[in-house]
Amino acid sequence: MGLKPATNPDVEAVAIELSIDGKSVTAKDGVSLYDVISSTGKIIPAMCYHYTFDPFGSCGMCLVMQEGKKAPVRSCTAKATAGMIIRTEGDDLFQARKKAVEKHLSVHPLDCPVCDADGHCELQDMAFQHGVTNLPNAKQKFIPEDTRSPVLDFNMNRCIACAECINVCKDVLMIDALQFMKKGGFNQVVPKGDVALSCEFCGDCLAVCPVGAITNKFSKYLYKPWQMKKTATTCNYCGDGCQMYLETKDVEVVRVTSPLSWKNKWGDRADTAKGHGGLCVRGRFGFEFIDSAARVKQPLLRKGNRLVEAPWLETMHQVVDRFSEIRRKHGSDSIAGLITARCTNEELYLFQKLMRAGFQSNQLDSSARYGHLNFVHASRHALGLGRSPNDWEDLTKAKAVIIIGSNITETNPLTAVRIKEAIRVYKAQVVVIDSAVTNMAKLASHPVLIKPGTEGLVIDGLVKATLELDLIDENSTRKHPKAFEALKAAVAQVSLEQVALQSGMSVASLKDTAAIFAEAPRSIILCAEGIVRQPDGYQNILKLIDLAWITGKLDQPGCGVNTLTEEPNEQGAVDMGAAPEFLPGQASFNDQTARDRFAKAWNVTLPVAGSGASLIEILKRCRSGQIRALYVIGENPLATLPASMEVRAALDRLELLVVQDPFLTETGRMAHAVLPACTSAEKDGTFTNLEGRVLRVREAMDPIGESLPDWHIMTAMANALGCQWEYESSNDIQAEIMKLLPGYYNLGQPRKVVPTMDRYLSHDYSTEVGARYRSSTPPGSHNQRPFALLMGQLLYHSGKMSTEAPGLMKIAPNTGRLRMNPLDMERLNVGEGMTVRLTSDRGSMQLAVQPDQSIAPQTCFFPEHFNEPPVKDLMTVQVDPTTGVPSFKQTRVTIEKA
Ligand code: SF4
Ligand code: SF4
Ligand code: SF4
Ligand code: FES
Repeated sequence: MGLKPATNPDVEAVAIELSIDGKSVTAKDGVSLYDVISSTGKIIPAMCYHYTFDPFGSCGMCLVMQEGKKAPVRSCTAKATAGMIIRTEGDDLFQARKKAVEKHLSVHPLDCPVCDADGHCELQDMAFQHGVTNLPNAKQKFIPEDTRSPVLDFNMNRCIACAECINVCKDVLMIDALQFMKKGGFNQVVPKGDVALSCEFCGDCLAVCPVGAITNKFSKYLYKPWQMKKTATTCNYCGDGCQMYLETKDVEVVRVTSPLSWKNKWGDRADTAKGHGGLCVRGRFGFEFIDSAARVKQPLLRKGNRLVEAPWLETMHQVVDRFSEIRRKHGSDSIAGLITARCTNEELYLFQKLMRAGFQSNQLDSSARYGHLNFVHASRHALGLGRSPNDWEDLTKAKAVIIIGSNITETNPLTAVRIKEAIRVYKAQVVVIDSAVTNMAKLASHPVLIKPGTEGLVIDGLVKATLELDLIDENSTRKHPKAFEALKAAVAQVSLEQVALQSGMSVASLKDTAAIFAEAPRSIILCAEGIVRQPDGYQNILKLIDLAWITGKLDQPGCGVNTLTEEPNEQGAVDMGAAPEFLPGQASFNDQTARDRFAKAWNVTLPVAGSGASLIEILKRCRSGQIRALYVIGENPLATLPASMEVRAALDRLELLVVQDPFLTETGRMAHAVLPACTSAEKDGTFTNLEGRVLRVREAMDPIGESLPDWHIMTAMANALGCQWEYESSNDIQAEIMKLLPGYYNLGQPRKVVPTMDRYLSHDYSTEVGARYRSSTPPGSHNQRPFALLMGQLLYHSGKMSTEAPGLMKIAPNTGRLRMNPLDMERLNVGEGMTVRLTSDRGSMQLAVQPDQSIAPQTCFFPEHFNEPPVKDLMTVQVDPTTGVPSFKQTRVTIEKA
């Protein structure tokens, strides 16, 4: 029936008065009566209702009496209207609700003792509340359990046909994987088409099921809800920063739930703009890496060709002695460090402090270098902002969204749900520009398929179309006429026809997109891996900022140019200064005032200004022999970077390689010492998500084996090196950060950031804008290889860590196969599973193929999580001259039948 949020940014709902149990209540016209009643503090029974999706009205529990009506009405499906007189209590209503409970229970198996929902079951609660004790006519359904899905089991004997699972999947997630089907005389929930469930496996249907009809395969029959310790924490898979509960028993993670699982059924529908409280498949079912048998449980020391277990004390002595000796003999520039953005803010802060204050080296970097730093540098340069300006609510309530170079459902599934709500509830126009047929493209009003690597050209076209159609916001451009003239001159040579020819996005579509973006009151650009991880990423973001500037979409509320962070704390890594160019707070490492401040706070002399090296330079210096000792925390450059980067040669030359990681990675296997680190489930701290929210990470269980939190290991190492660090907990580190970066800990509420473009437009702009519109030549136009080979993320994985989670590997194993469009396979005369030879300028390999409709013709894809076969080694690496970001996710290849 579609109860929309009563208030949206464009229309304020009319306030109405109605009477509830004799009291006058003010409400918004048209919202669910159930929510109005709940807003008074009176919670009446409900089972099929949930405020995050449209009401279904099947359970018959939320009955109220409305004056003028003979029979009780279902308050969830009734809309609040002015003058209603409502009664919510009385014996008549109690009896009617009791009858509804009896009806449900009369066909319910009453197998509560073995049901996972026991103690957390709405039907059980309702039976208890209504004194249902005797069911003389109860009968069994005897429906066999559907166990075909890899993660969920469906026990339809317990189903009360409330449709919450179907509705959350259809309404909120826009996946629509479930349906009712009459089978064996009962309405049963089945996967669409009654085949094995094939969906995103987010588990939100499991979360909302009020009974135990949908069960979690991983935790079934293991424990009762009250036997588990429930820890509220933040997911450590992607930058969305979803809040979750890790439910543990001793050192075993039993299951993951989220606010949606423990929800209240009532709330203002408009609140879902900030999130619906669910999780994606990685967050919900990817937890098994935490207590995996493959965890490194004890320090390892190299003895000859082998890594052997050793006590912490001996290992740390050796590591510290070796670091000290190398530094004494070869100076501070012989030491470098790399850290993953899966570490907490506190650990990232300590890491850069250890490198700079402890080792006196500014050769340090984090995984934010793999792309996010392109965005940060461009946005800082133009706007003075070091992060995305818009939060989830802005995304949800946008009227126009351009998603360019982002397979958002795969990389940031819950931010994708915000865009889905923008489409479905707020009727946003969404333009998806991508070289793959992404999930979001299928839902968007304007899907645009472009040729791989032409994102930059398309942006040129959008800027040009905006100028040609005179979609200019004069308030923005009038203040900077010289800059505006420079931009016009820079794009004068851009031809929309040429852009269309080279990119595949038609002139009409370029013009439509420009108009949609310029004319909407709230317009947002989202760019991700297809921009920030590609050559010219920095320049392409500046061009997107140009587009937003001339259309007045930079400083208006709800507008802006944004990116997505793939790892959970890429933003935190930059903010904490885990990059040679930044001190904490993104202060420039070369800024004397900032240097003085941190030198004083840490009581050290910092490495000289202008010194330092980022990832690629560090590897180069390892190869040249300048860097002799490398400290790697959670990073795995050997498995991540293509062979042409000669990572193995770089690591081979080291006199000391120390790898600190929860797992024995490819890089770890080359190490002289491996220090076992905890996962985020075993430590406290914070992550900063893609909105800039600082979110708590809480220790849910004791460390596995002898592993220790990264901050703990770094503190011990620093003290052994002669620093006097007194941190006893992550809170102590937080206290120091708080003093140095007042306001950073924003308690989950991102500070609104305001772009300031005046300085940039009045100074550097006119001289630099010309170059960025000349650089866009489509990759590979110069060579004869007809296919684009892309590497990217899958929904079911995140980096390499998810490959340690058996549940996710079961859903999405490494097939070792190249994914191709079926038409291309037909043209090459290869069938599924047949072998092809894949050749790039870097080499050649044979592998099997599999069809994939989402892959565009003339394109092929291999998931970046897997290294067998090592497809990444076919990639050429291009390093951005301004930001040092290496791009290696795309190349040109030939494919022949082997
Ligand atoms: S797991 Fe998620 S996608 Fe799959 S049916 Fe349930 S709600 Fe839908
Ligand atoms: S499976 Fe659960 S959520 Fe779905 S209709 Fe049945 S009781 Fe409701
Ligand atoms: S969207 Fe990201 S943060 Fe949220 S549950 Fe999934 S992986 Fe975790
Ligand atoms: S009919 Fe209203 S909650 Fe089920």
